[in-house]
Amino acid sequence: MKNISIESAISKLIFALDADNYEEALSWVQLLSGHVGMFKVGKELYTAVGPKIIESIKDIGQKVFLDLKFHDIPNTVARAAKAAVRLNVDMFNVHASGGSQMVKEAVTAAWNCADEIAGERPIILAVTVLTSLNNTDLAEIGFPRTTGDQVLHLARLAQNAGASGVVASAQDIEMLRANLGNKFIIVTPGIRSAGSIKKDDQKRTLSACEAIKKGADYIVVGRPISTASKPLDACQQIVQEIADGLAAR
Ligand code: C5P
Repeated sequence: MKNISIESAISKLIFALDADNYEEALSWVQLLSGHVGMFKVGKELYTAVGPKIIESIKDIGQKVFLDLKFHDIPNTVARAAKAAVRLNVDMFNVHASGGSQMVKEAVTAAWNCADEIAGERPIILAVTVLTSLNNTDLAEIGFPRTTGDQVLHLARLAQNAGASGVVASAQDIEMLRANLGNKFIIVTPGIRSAGSIKKDDQKRTLSACEAIKKGADYIVVGRPISTASKPLDACQQIVQEIADGLAAR
């Protein structure tokens, strides 16, 4: 049995800070600091409160995943990537379907900016196919491949364009690991514990332990913690599941 430190398990847990106001978001950060590895700031929170929540999280000494899924012309995405680096985020993402030029320019701009300000280079993830889309939806927007084939196609494109990794559903972890190697980072949302009946709107779920065992580098968890009667206990339970998954790898 491998000896897994609790810190290494904590570092793999990203809490989805899905709140619509600064005070609620900050109270989650205060409660969970040190118990999760990173806080994910998405479109709702960022649109509602702006960069000050990122500054507050960083001031407390915690890490930030800015989940704004940039998708625009390469010049605009490169400039947004630079702005994300200046905010000192540890991870952000772009849509791979923006094309390899867009991904390349985002990576180059982000890394040049980090080097200029002597900051850390952030992890840059690509989003492949939104998990809300099925084969019929892809056909409707003119993509002939199945979702699985399109996920791999776009993940390869992102890897070749210099992205650090992808956001991937639980069902794609093994396929991506097998095709893209061990260094490409896989971040997986849609985590529900094995015994949980409540899946919310997540269709393809996996437990934290299984996702880590299959090869996810990070998992994103929101409601299983935020709607639990004892959120900190739920969080610690998930960290234990991650440790079990790491031990079973
Ligand atoms: O509450 P829950 O654990 O389902 O939260 C998951 C988080 O991950 C949300 O912030 C959601 O937007 C995000 N996400 C997802 N599925 C994806 C990509 C991101 O649930 N395919």
